[in-house]
Amino acid sequence: MQALIAKFKEAGQGQVFQFFDQLDDSGQERLLAQAASIDLDELSGLVQEHVFSESHCALDLEGLEPAPYIALPSNEASATEWERAFQTGAEAIRAGRVAAFTVAGGQGTRLGYDGPKGTYPVTPLSKKSLFQVFAEKILRSGERFGVTLPWFILTSEINHAATIAAFEENAYFGLPPESVHFIVQGLVPAVDLEGKILLSRQDSIAMTPDGHGGALRALVRSGAVDTMKANGVDIVSYFQVDNPIVQCVDPAFIGFHVLGQSELSSKMVPKAYALEKVGHFCTQDGVTKVIEYSDMPTAMQEETTLDGELRFKAGSVAIHVFDRDFIARVGGDGLDLKLPFHRANKKIPCVDAAGAQVNPEQPNGVKFEMFVFDALPLAANPVIIEAVRGDDFSPVKNAAGLDSPQTCKEDQLRMFAHWLKAAGVEIDTDDSGLPGITFEISPRFAADEKDFVARWSALSTKPEISDGTTIE
Ligand code: UD1
Repeated sequence: MQALIAKFKEAGQGQVFQFFDQLDDSGQERLLAQAASIDLDELSGLVQEHVFSESHCALDLEGLEPAPYIALPSNEASATEWERAFQTGAEAIRAGRVAAFTVAGGQGTRLGYDGPKGTYPVTPLSKKSLFQVFAEKILRSGERFGVTLPWFILTSEINHAATIAAFEENAYFGLPPESVHFIVQGLVPAVDLEGKILLSRQDSIAMTPDGHGGALRALVRSGAVDTMKANGVDIVSYFQVDNPIVQCVDPAFIGFHVLGQSELSSKMVPKAYALEKVGHFCTQDGVTKVIEYSDMPTAMQEETTLDGELRFKAGSVAIHVFDRDFIARVGGDGLDLKLPFHRANKKIPCVDAAGAQVNPEQPNGVKFEMFVFDALPLAANPVIIEAVRGDDFSPVKNAAGLDSPQTCKEDQLRMFAHWLKAAGVEIDTDDSGLPGITFEISPRFAADEKDFVARWSALSTKPEISDGTTIE
């Protein structure tokens, strides 16, 4: 105990134990346990780099080019290439090489929802939660290819217990419980603007999740990578918890990843408008990377080519396929392939030097986060493919307006309507493709358009589609 306290003092972080003598036994224990979990060397590096120096602000934009990508099929040759990718991916899934992976450790503060974001109800009619939608898609994909797909879910200490409870209360939404693996991501202390660790209470350090980039080291540290290896899984299909229309396990995407011998593949959609809040796929000196919307100057985001298209149009929808051994290398302890941390200035509730609780109105501290897409420059043979926005991307991020429950509900309805149209069913929609009725296609029935068309055409009696219909 004394040695730990001394280490903090030596590192200039003695204030962490400032109230220690006044704490009861359980308070002292809590603080010591938290302190023991902190990597002081890592933290002091972060403070040096991000708090004491301004160099991180100067993002080098020299020579930045839009990254090349595999476009959607537009002619016979490209359609053949996509079909080949589909078959390759299907084979990998059938062989048990694929696992799904959802990052759900975030706090979801923008949505203003109290509870793990995955428990938020999203479907238009039956109000299935995000977790239920993913579970049913994973179940359906497994059924389609004759396997049980393992599903790894990243939580954080903030929502881990509540996430597990939600699965238990719902009998794992029909999945075999042993196929679902919960992994807790790491925490990093928040510091004040002088680099001093903040206390959230007198007996507690203000710790925050280490970002979705922390997913990679959490997969290694938790033993998940070893579990994958032991079970012959070497392809990890990654998506965010906020996006219910994502194709959790997309055969064509997995196929392009395999055919390209890629260590990390990503989906792009053309940005909906210049300043859409998504990352941009770029290359620089031959290296592929994502430049966040917040890091790319507005003029660059708005730049157009001679034919009037956005120059940096490839938006990241945060859907990736990882090679397992690549995760092991980037998430492991080797020093050569580490994800960088980013700094975010935040309002962090804390106690002041006198021990009083403070709820700041201005940013008073710094959080450190890793971003998973920073793995892209480290990957061999990165592959980027184009995705149909309406079939892959409609996140629920804000309570109202853009990327809200309302826009997501409408996008789900548009997707269901265009699947029906693809299967030859007539359905009235407005110019944006939105049907006038509310209905649902259960993910248990079909995981994507191709799957839907095949299953629909195999139905001997087809249900009438009207307001309130669920196809399941
Ligand atoms: C993110 C991406 C952006 C992408 C967009 C697509 C970042 C910085 N940017 O933006 O490039 O175009 O999504 O929707 O991520 N999460 C964790 N642990 C954490 C932090 C986040 O698991 O410590 C998870 C969240 O639960 C969520 C996802 O990561 O599933 C995204 O986090 P969020 O902070 O909402 O990212 P965005 O700013 O929306």
